[in-house]
Amino acid sequence: MSVFFMRNSEIMKDWIHYLAMATTCVGLSFASTTSSYGENIQKNEKTGKTVTIVGVQFGDESKGSITDLLAQEADIVARYNGGSNAGHTIVIEGKKFKLSSLPSGILTKGVINVVGPGMVLDPEQFTQEMNRIRENGVEISPTNLKIAENVPLVLPIHKELEALQESGSGALNTTKKGIGPAYEDKIGRRAIRVRDIVKLEEPKNLDSLITKIKVMLEHHNALLRGHGKDPVKEEDVLTYIQKFAKEIEPYVAVIWRDLDAMQKAGKNMLVEGAQSAWLDISHGTYPYVTSSHTSASAAGYGLGIALKNNFVLGVVKAYTTRVGNGPFPTILNDETGERIRQIGQEFGAVTGRQRDCGWLDLVSVKQAIVNNGVNALALAKGDVLDGFDTIKVCIGYKVDGKEYDHMPIDPASWDKIEPIYKVFKGWNNTKGVTSKEKLNDNYKQYIKFIEDYTGVPVSIISTGPDRNEKIVLSNPFKA
Ligand code: IMP
Repeated sequence: MSVFFMRNSEIMKDWIHYLAMATTCVGLSFASTTSSYGENIQKNEKTGKTVTIVGVQFGDESKGSITDLLAQEADIVARYNGGSNAGHTIVIEGKKFKLSSLPSGILTKGVINVVGPGMVLDPEQFTQEMNRIRENGVEISPTNLKIAENVPLVLPIHKELEALQESGSGALNTTKKGIGPAYEDKIGRRAIRVRDIVKLEEPKNLDSLITKIKVMLEHHNALLRGHGKDPVKEEDVLTYIQKFAKEIEPYVAVIWRDLDAMQKAGKNMLVEGAQSAWLDISHGTYPYVTSSHTSASAAGYGLGIALKNNFVLGVVKAYTTRVGNGPFPTILNDETGERIRQIGQEFGAVTGRQRDCGWLDLVSVKQAIVNNGVNALALAKGDVLDGFDTIKVCIGYKVDGKEYDHMPIDPASWDKIEPIYKVFKGWNNTKGVTSKEKLNDNYKQYIKFIEDYTGVPVSIISTGPDRNEKIVLSNPFKA
């Protein structure tokens, strides 16, 4: 049985057809002679709408379920960062799907899904994930999945090196999926990229790949030897890559050109981030961050195009969770934290690790809203707090008696942060509610406060994991 769900908007049947349409559209502007060249392009382009989804906390805000919801309106879902460290849980009519590297639009028929160049791709994990999702009745083919040529690969050597790093004094409590070392190779200009593993039956391509493996191993084997480990053999890396290359090859595409053509054809694009604002390599709680640019401001960069007509939707949970090391000013190391964890099922979708839980921290959320240019919020999991007598929200920090309206950058001050709380009356019966009018008044006041404090509206309220348990107050594609 197919689990695809039809979108309300026009169903995309043929990628090539739309590319042709876009080309014709641009072509018309070339043909016109009455006005200047630039004016014609402006008139004839029907730039599509883009919605970029970003988490504004420490990850696991329910981005996947919001992306899946909005995918119903989208022609394209494009992911711009991260890899198999992400875990997106999506529930459709009670059926649960766990996605890690596949964009969240893969469950919606007619949507083109893009693995953008800002991501890193683990070929073994990726092919396994495709097969697992297929077994659930989802069609995956080169028509609905495209992988950018310049995505760097995550290889077993990256996981081995990460395990060594994580056993040392600089351990960060990562997901151990090889993400950090793979991004290090990208920046170090020695990564093996998707383009390097296509058409390996051609001797020149094979030779080129072998040279790249050699260069990469020169670096990594020196590290392995330093750790007293055996070096990795070139032929082992080659055999490993060859095992998956043929399965990946049909999906490899020139993404920037295709996305540009789709935008010019007036198509709706949903841009999906992973890991969230506070795990950004530059703007997060460094060094307790992931190795990619998670920020919405890096989304166009992570896809190779300038995002036009872009609306940024920040996803926030009604409380906070964090997994891994790093500052967490509102953490609850008590029964309340445990209660949130159990009701909210706050266990990692990728690693199964239990997430730390705490109250909503609007100080860090507000900063993330600025860093990411967030236009509106999607608020998730308020239903998890159903039945609590009182609920707290952090509205300021105190460090050594001094008040802060932002996250101090110095790690030495993180343990000293004392949250300043505002207390709200608890609410009830939020689970599964599908209209704002039916929400408990106390929850409505909580939402109003979030809007007033952050200065951005809450446009979507999620009252449960299922696609149907959502209240859409304003559709970002129509905003
Ligand atoms: P890495 O991304 O595996 O390098 O891990 C770096 C940090 O980011 C660790 O604290 C991880 O727990 C955290 N992290 C990575 N991916 C996710 C995610 O999808 N959700 C929440 N935390 C994540």
